[in-house]
Amino acid sequence: GGGRTGALTPPPPPPPSSSSSDEVQKIDVNPPKGTRDFPPEDMRLRNWLFGHFRDVSRTFGFEEVDFPVLESEALFIRKAGEEIRDQLYCFEDRGNRRVALRPELTPSLARLVIQKGKSVSLPLKWFAVGQCWRYERMTRGRRREHYQWNMDIIGVPGVVAEAELISSIVTFFKKVGITSSDVGFKVSSRKVLQELLRSYSVPENSFGRVCVIIDKIEKIPVDVIKKDLMTAGMSDLAVEELLQVLAIKSLDKLEEVLGGKGDAITDLKQLFFLAEKFGYSDWIEFDASIVRGLAYYTGIVFEGFDREGKLRAICGGGRYDKLLSTFGGEDLPACGFGFGDAVIVELLKEKGRLPELNHQVVSMVCALDSDLQGAAAAVATKLREKGESVELILGVKPLKWVFKRAARINAERLILVGPDEWQKGTVSVKNLSSEEQYEVKLEELE
Ligand code: HAM
Repeated sequence: GGGRTGALTPPPPPPPSSSSSDEVQKIDVNPPKGTRDFPPEDMRLRNWLFGHFRDVSRTFGFEEVDFPVLESEALFIRKAGEEIRDQLYCFEDRGNRRVALRPELTPSLARLVIQKGKSVSLPLKWFAVGQCWRYERMTRGRRREHYQWNMDIIGVPGVVAEAELISSIVTFFKKVGITSSDVGFKVSSRKVLQELLRSYSVPENSFGRVCVIIDKIEKIPVDVIKKDLMTAGMSDLAVEELLQVLAIKSLDKLEEVLGGKGDAITDLKQLFFLAEKFGYSDWIEFDASIVRGLAYYTGIVFEGFDREGKLRAICGGGRYDKLLSTFGGEDLPACGFGFGDAVIVELLKEKGRLPELNHQVVSMVCALDSDLQGAAAAVATKLREKGESVELILGVKPLKWVFKRAARINAERLILVGPDEWQKGTVSVKNLSSEEQYEVKLEELE
């Protein structure tokens, strides 16, 4: 069950106790439902993934930003019936402020853009990798905490910005070995809906709400959708026609149905033109049913999907030109995307593309008797100062143990600090792949 969670009530004071209250209470060793620990093997994968997020973002000239995980609840409250609102982890803090764990990064980004005001030069090209919290029903690739890679462009009104964003995601996919036969992007524009709604005189202020309703089409029975749309101010006829338009999968057909020239068609055509120039035409397709579930999108919207249809959206984004004014700021053209860390890992597994990542140090330094621990420490320090990764054996261990451990951490060489060599100012170095062993003067050790 969903519902609002996380009410923080101060813990009750400990009961007055005369007897010993230091009883051991066995804890549950699992993290809270829907959250994860990152033991070393998982952390290696996470670092590998985030490394690619960051590399790609920098390749596109973006700067990294971050925001607090805890924000004012008000930042996330929009009155459009979004799912994300019901999934909010929110509570009152000890100073009686309503706060929430961020479910996404975009409102924080908007807040910072407003705060910076005129001091920044546009366009801003910002990226972030941050943890987000949503009280979701758990499915494959969906959990209650996830990390999201975001790239956003503030200050560019044309679809060349969206085209650039999609290009960066394509670049990422290619880097991790995912091809256009594995994934694609479905693209549409909310202006399609806007133009339709206008022609049926649906009030402009119910636009966000209508989009959020339509986004649920695949999860909720059509009858319920129809009823919700009519409640939002649409006539029976308008709803019918809307549903027909949503089924359109070609731009030519859309143009025929919408008739003549509108911004929706112009934007979409331009995007497909640019996709060809950027070189990722085979990755994108038009699909009028794509609207995305967040109320603030105003133009192009897109999502990354796996072609086998096994997984939920890999990433999603779009243009949100009116978000800033909802926070009392001055609107600026804006677009961006969020790309989670969960679905992509499922996809990489599915495609056999998960990298093999091992713990690795270059050298392992070991004293052969306890008198030489200081000497071994000095050797380790010397190498570490040169930037080498060195594991120092903390204590004196049997050689068999040392070799086993060296193999486990994939050490390239073992440096043994023994009494006879140390007297001569040398150590013995064993190359663990070639099995060669030689004596090296301390000052020649590198
Ligand atoms: P969103 O579509 O809600 O957009 O989420 C973007 C992506 O975050 C999803 O496609 C998915 O990869 C990941 N994601 C979301 N919820 C979960 C979850 N519970 N578990 C795992 N992964 C999840 C946004 O959040 C927008 N703020 C994106 C954006 C940035 N639009 C403009 N700029």
